[in-house]
Amino acid sequence: MDINLLLKKLTIEEKIGQLLQLSPFHFIRDIEVEVFGHLKELGLTEKKVFSAGSVLGIHNAAEMISVQEKYLRKSTHQIPLVFMADIIHGYETIFPVPLALSTSWNPKLAFDMARVSAIEASTAGIHVTFSPMADLSRDPRWGRVVEGFGEDPYLNALFTKEMVKGYQQDDISQDGNVASCVKHFAAYGAAEGGRDYNTVDVSRLSLHNYYLKGYKAAIDAGAKLIMTSFNVLDGIPATINKHLLRGVLRDLWKFDGLTITDYDSLHQVVPHGNAENDEEAALKGIIAGLDIEMASTCYINYLKKLIENHEVDIKLLDEAVLRVLKLKEEIGLFDNPYKGASVELESTLVRSNDHLEISKKVAHESVVLLKNENLLPLSTHKKYALIGPYAETRNTNGPWSWHGKNELNHTLKETLLEKNISMTFVKQVVRVEDLTKEDLIELKNVDAVILALGENERESGEAHSKVDIKLPRNQEEFVEFFRQAGLDSIVLLYHGRPFDLSNIMDAKAILDVYYLGSMANDAIADILTGVINPSGKITMSYPRHVGQIPIYYNHLNTGRPKIEGDRNEYVSYYLDELNTPLFPFGFGLSYSKFSYQNLRLSQFEMSLNEEISLFIDVQNETEIGGFETVQLYIRDYVATISRPVKELKGFQKIWFAPHQRRVVEFVINKSLLSYLDDQGNEVIEPGRFQLMVGSSSIELTSLDIILKKEEVNDFKK
Ligand code: NOJ
Repeated sequence: MDINLLLKKLTIEEKIGQLLQLSPFHFIRDIEVEVFGHLKELGLTEKKVFSAGSVLGIHNAAEMISVQEKYLRKSTHQIPLVFMADIIHGYETIFPVPLALSTSWNPKLAFDMARVSAIEASTAGIHVTFSPMADLSRDPRWGRVVEGFGEDPYLNALFTKEMVKGYQQDDISQDGNVASCVKHFAAYGAAEGGRDYNTVDVSRLSLHNYYLKGYKAAIDAGAKLIMTSFNVLDGIPATINKHLLRGVLRDLWKFDGLTITDYDSLHQVVPHGNAENDEEAALKGIIAGLDIEMASTCYINYLKKLIENHEVDIKLLDEAVLRVLKLKEEIGLFDNPYKGASVELESTLVRSNDHLEISKKVAHESVVLLKNENLLPLSTHKKYALIGPYAETRNTNGPWSWHGKNELNHTLKETLLEKNISMTFVKQVVRVEDLTKEDLIELKNVDAVILALGENERESGEAHSKVDIKLPRNQEEFVEFFRQAGLDSIVLLYHGRPFDLSNIMDAKAILDVYYLGSMANDAIADILTGVINPSGKITMSYPRHVGQIPIYYNHLNTGRPKIEGDRNEYVSYYLDELNTPLFPFGFGLSYSKFSYQNLRLSQFEMSLNEEISLFIDVQNETEIGGFETVQLYIRDYVATISRPVKELKGFQKIWFAPHQRRVVEFVINKSLLSYLDDQGNEVIEPGRFQLMVGSSSIELTSLDIILKKEEVNDFKK
């Protein structure tokens, strides 16, 4: 298809239509009869609806085929709709929520998850997924931390990149591949107070060094689209922010794909106070470089007038429309408007046993063991009780799993019984008082209690922010109650955000199980029984108190840092709480124990184009084979801008057989020693750097190196 020629044939209305994205119901309902309510408010007529370029969300192949058929019947130029949807952590085979996926420290699993998601979603005729979410966040109050990859820019970038590669592979025209739309550009995760949709006010330095890295990685990996965020940045909503959409995206990053609003976010620049009305919103959107408008109708209702009045150059419209047509061409929609959609394939491929097995493997690596005083793995010789609000839950899919079917998931009781664990008492209750006298008598016969605690699926995700990130009091009371009763408890945490767990530290074991998807309780049973050795490590700091937020490991030092043991009052600390988190970034236990010894360097000084090797001996001290994630952090002691006390710069997740000792090597080169200035340019400065290696962001041993002065100016060559 010659899309340039096609563009020339389109009327101005038809061009603007290509920039409109609507939900499927608009096409399904009889608009002539039903022009009321929402449709009326949006100013939509049947003509406008049937000029739209794309669709948001589709349930299955049959729905896709019927919408496309109806659309093409009414279309003059036979330009097919492109179907986009939120396939966030699986289509019907649901995988761990992204936050849990990141705790695997295994980006290859992100690729696997994206592959299965793409294969399944394609059968419904979905061509674009609104994933990955690359929003870095340091605030567990923000409900959407569940959809991201934690607080670290380096890890975030690795996971977003693999997701994009998994969705698209090298060619979005191939069946089983979908285009990736990375979101929400930019810095949506920095919402003040952790309240969703709230103001964002971050410096350009923070933007470039932390918040933008994930989107950039996705774009470098070839993501075809990028979605703007709901928030303002520098006082201008991201959706109409020219600095972001043209300056950063097009000029700095050379992005040539599509930009799309978030749901209704072009219209929302009016309540933001940046436009008088939808017409001004349309004007600011097209000038800023915004292509597709999702769900609101500023473009479709006002762009024509703005062009006719010469307020907008038609070239801007043409550029945007051409990008939409190019995407359709790349997907292959002009050759086959129903691309991918197949009712037959849907019934064989979707939620297949193979896919479920992959999901289980990802879930295995996503579980984090936070505490274990010799209570895990469970023993087949002991008797256990399973109690708590999630004791019999099948709702393990988590937010954004709208095609998933919780009812098909196993309960933990089912999966543990299969493993011959004696579960003599199982009761799904929300508070201690729900246990009857008879229950308490029965409980005398058990050796330990498994407490299934946490938050429900609707308590995290979009628009689900919280000020209190403790477990509800009635849940904490279970731990206290059983401690007083002399029974050990093992807590399983089903959740979507870091919690303040300080009130349940009396539990003898704590296993973080997030929402692990379709095979959650199967995977949890494998971990509980020791069939699989846990290997996850948390990717957000778990605070001791909500008042510590934002709390993150890669903070600056301040001029008056708190030094443990030093009693000086006038330093940066709290009167009533420590500075440190309860569980630090990168922390997670295993049934094995690893020791780190003998950190050494190939040389202590390097010039710019040299590399230094850093070695450490890591030993599995136990009879149990397991994975350990060996982490490398670097500190730049002195630079023009203050640099963090440590930054993750590398890691290796390695299998250790019982008692195995390995030499782990990291190669240090200039790219690990650089930072970005407030324009996004890479900078490197000579001097002393601290290299730290260990099993979490606090259990580290370190050595210093010197980057020699004289050659630093060569960096930009
Ligand atoms: C709003 C959400 O913020 C975004 O992540 C999602 O992709 C769109 N709605 C479309 O459903």
